[in-house]
Amino acid sequence: MRRLRAAALAGRGVRQVAGKVQRSSRKRKERATPPKGETDQASPCHLFSDPAEIEAFRRSLLAWYDEYKRDLPWRRLAASESDANRRAYAVWVSEIMLQQTQVATVIDYYNRWMQKWPTLQELAEATLEEVNELWAGLGYYSRGKRLREGAGKVMSELAGQMPRTAEELQRQLPGVGRYTAGALASIAFGQATGVVDGNVIRVLCRVRCIGADAGSQAVTDQLWDLANTVVDPGRPGDFNQAMMELGATVCTPRAPLCMECPVKQHCRAHSRVERELGAAARRLLGAAASEPPRVPDVEECAAASMGSCSLCLPPSESWDSSLGVANYPRKAAKKQPRMERTATCVLERRGHQGEPEYLLVQRPSSGLLAGLWEFPSLPVGPELEEKQLRAALLGHVRGCRGKGAAAEGCLQQVGEVVHIFSHIRQTYAVYSLLPEGDVELGPPASRWVTRAEFQGSAVSTAMKKILQAYERWSPAEAAPSKGSKRKRDPWPSSRSPVGTGSRPSKRQLSLDAFLQVSTGK
Ligand code: ADE
Repeated sequence: MRRLRAAALAGRGVRQVAGKVQRSSRKRKERATPPKGETDQASPCHLFSDPAEIEAFRRSLLAWYDEYKRDLPWRRLAASESDANRRAYAVWVSEIMLQQTQVATVIDYYNRWMQKWPTLQELAEATLEEVNELWAGLGYYSRGKRLREGAGKVMSELAGQMPRTAEELQRQLPGVGRYTAGALASIAFGQATGVVDGNVIRVLCRVRCIGADAGSQAVTDQLWDLANTVVDPGRPGDFNQAMMELGATVCTPRAPLCMECPVKQHCRAHSRVERELGAAARRLLGAAASEPPRVPDVEECAAASMGSCSLCLPPSESWDSSLGVANYPRKAAKKQPRMERTATCVLERRGHQGEPEYLLVQRPSSGLLAGLWEFPSLPVGPELEEKQLRAALLGHVRGCRGKGAAAEGCLQQVGEVVHIFSHIRQTYAVYSLLPEGDVELGPPASRWVTRAEFQGSAVSTAMKKILQAYERWSPAEAAPSKGSKRKRDPWPSSRSPVGTGSRPSKRQLSLDAFLQVSTGK
């Protein structure tokens, strides 16, 4: 760890301006191990040091991109839009949507978004509710919220003018970090600045054999330096997108297509694989014994053999021949997601036409899933037993919706639904309740929605999974086929819980009876 921190400091010592060649200190190269108190310097094998090689790398990558790039709506918009603010807005939306989300998923959301709000001004005038409705299912909802806030800021404080540099974009716009600022500045405004996202990390770590923990600050600093060094100052936006495209389609995590890679001749991980294959072939042919000892070249890290390189694979994690170039990048083990449990109640009633309607309540306007709608839900501790959990959930429903909400109803166990949020493994214990009294609507804001209205509402994927589970459990009520109106049998005996929850007791208690049981009255 100390060595990594030292390398971070050293990395700052070799600051590069975009497009400039990285240099390693000559003094450092002459010394085998740094004397005490001095910091490590990246070995040349982890840098881009040769201007001719950088040129060749750019040329090969851009030629490949020109031929094979995917035809994506934001690329078309960026290429055809002459107004810089409109262009930047179109790129901004795409980059925010693409964070933690696959291209294939984003396309439809992007097209609907740009149709609804083609300009910054229109987005600035949208409500958070509208934004959440369109964003529903895309996850990480604060992204949409921040985009809207950012559009508001550009319109009200910056006279409709998007900041023009990565530094200013990051400083002025909410939700715009170093990556998004670099992508926006290079793609929309042609600033020669690099970007580092997950795909670029993979490409750079392989191309320059960086095997130290790619999540560490030292390696992150080094990767940004590399990205800024290698970016093409003539076509920075295309170059950055080409790096990301290469990582997404060729230099993939598990089964990279090295034979199709336009920069394989510059890839040091690929060279290592080739060297190993060559050596293995020579061993098979019995030629190795007669060969002179091999002299390590610039592609190999001189410091590695002494265990003193902060960017190589750590000595404890040696090269695995079966992985090939996929030895890189290495990441420290991911933290396990936090386990959380929530009790959720699907309240169902009949609408005017006899169709089922569900009660939704709105979440607070800040925090996780801010402003989204959900079935009445209560976070509960893992230790809570079934009886206590039911009592707590009923108390919650009564507390926020009035006694009528649950006074006469029967609470039935539907089952469990698990949903992984970025860092939380959320288990929903799902119950069903058919209220017979009146239900108070708000506060917090609440409304009854039909199935179709639910699907168009600002609800999270977790809530959609819960409704699906509920409908599977209660198939007679779900999505009636055209012309068939099934008569309601509130609790048919065929119902069984979904997920991993236990089966409900056949005997249904009225709520009051239940509460008496559960509270021991
Ligand atoms: N990932 C994020 N932004 C991208 C872009 N503009 N092109 C390809 N992949 C991306």
